[in-house]
Amino acid sequence: MRAVRIHEHGDADVLRVDDTESPDPEPGQVLVDVEAVGVNPVDTYFREGEYPVPHLPFVPGSDLAGTVVGDGVERFEAGDRVFGTGLGNGMSGTYAEEVAAPADFLAHVPDGVSFEDAAALALVGTTAWQAFVHHAKVEPAETVLVHGGNGGVGHVAVQLAETMGARVLATASEEFHDDVRALGADEVFDYRRNDLADAVLAAGAPDVILDTHMDRYLQFNANVAATDGRIIGIGNDTAEGGFTDIGVTKGKELRYQFMTMYNTAEKDAVLTRLGSLLERGEVEPVVHETYALEDAVEAQRTVLEESFLGKVVLVP
Ligand SMILES: NC(=O)c1ccc[n+]([C@@H]2O[C@H](COP(=O)([O-])OP(=O)(O)OC[C@H]3O[C@@H](n4cnc5c(N)ncnc54)[C@H](OP(=O)(O)O)[C@@H]3O)[C@@H](O)[C@H]2O)c1
Repeated sequence: MRAVRIHEHGDADVLRVDDTESPDPEPGQVLVDVEAVGVNPVDTYFREGEYPVPHLPFVPGSDLAGTVVGDGVERFEAGDRVFGTGLGNGMSGTYAEEVAAPADFLAHVPDGVSFEDAAALALVGTTAWQAFVHHAKVEPAETVLVHGGNGGVGHVAVQLAETMGARVLATASEEFHDDVRALGADEVFDYRRNDLADAVLAAGAPDVILDTHMDRYLQFNANVAATDGRIIGIGNDTAEGGFTDIGVTKGKELRYQFMTMYNTAEKDAVLTRLGSLLERGEVEPVVHETYALEDAVEAQRTVLEESFLGKVVLVP
């Protein structure tokens, strides 16, 4: 079978398509014939060596959707349509025609849902779920601010927050404002505007903030959050971040929660719920573009360097 592997760390050019042995599932794993793979920024961190890989050569990738092959385990059998996430971290990843996936990282793809949509939703949906359901415990009628509302996580987070009954504010480049509103945001602000904090406050201080750029917004979040606000930090572009006036965090009883979706408990249960929302059209990823395995280099470059709405998907 073919798999995209790295033999050394480096820029996107180190991604190579290799002919390799089919993986041999270990106990508790399911062999999946992969039909679609979500591409995420984190895949590039493992490629670059910023995050550790267990061995080289290494197959990157967290998300997959496909069909169970051979004897499944636990609740899966041959021919089942499944999707999953959380691979590629301490174990081989998903940029491959066949993947041995832990059964508890998988859920069934509902009838009528495409493999592309399921793979596109897995990691970003699990992230938004962990942030809003597990950590922030968003309640109906609360105000939620999503930084980067057109991004992979952001465009799904906007929909999940809206589905949970929240009033949704988002930031995005001007060209995506109509799209992000159509996904469920009540108000969208250009993150480049100098008066962003004033604009957000005029719309209503957020009870919950999903921060995809923690290195930029820790102080901003503190300044705009409502009393008892919950700030969930998931992403950063540089290693440094901080406050210029940390005192405001105390007066407002703010809670900061930094997280990684890899730590999500019971991923299979979360994915099953996300599958239901996808089937009902309540949380639907936008697939911006699909690429063949051979074009994984371009797919990762697109994710890191281009501005678009939604997700990039590999189709092996
Ligand atoms: N901790 C976790 O579990 C977890 C899970 C998933 C993702 N992440 C991290 O979260 C971040 C976002 O992931 P993603 O998949 O959504 O990435 P993405 O698809 O590349 O989206 C990034 C978003 O951030 C926006 N953005 C860029 N610069 C900004 C700025 N200065 N202020 C506000 N927004 C800005 C982008 O807008 P433009 O289109 O205008 O550039 C885009 O909407 C990444 O760092 C990723 O590694 C963490």
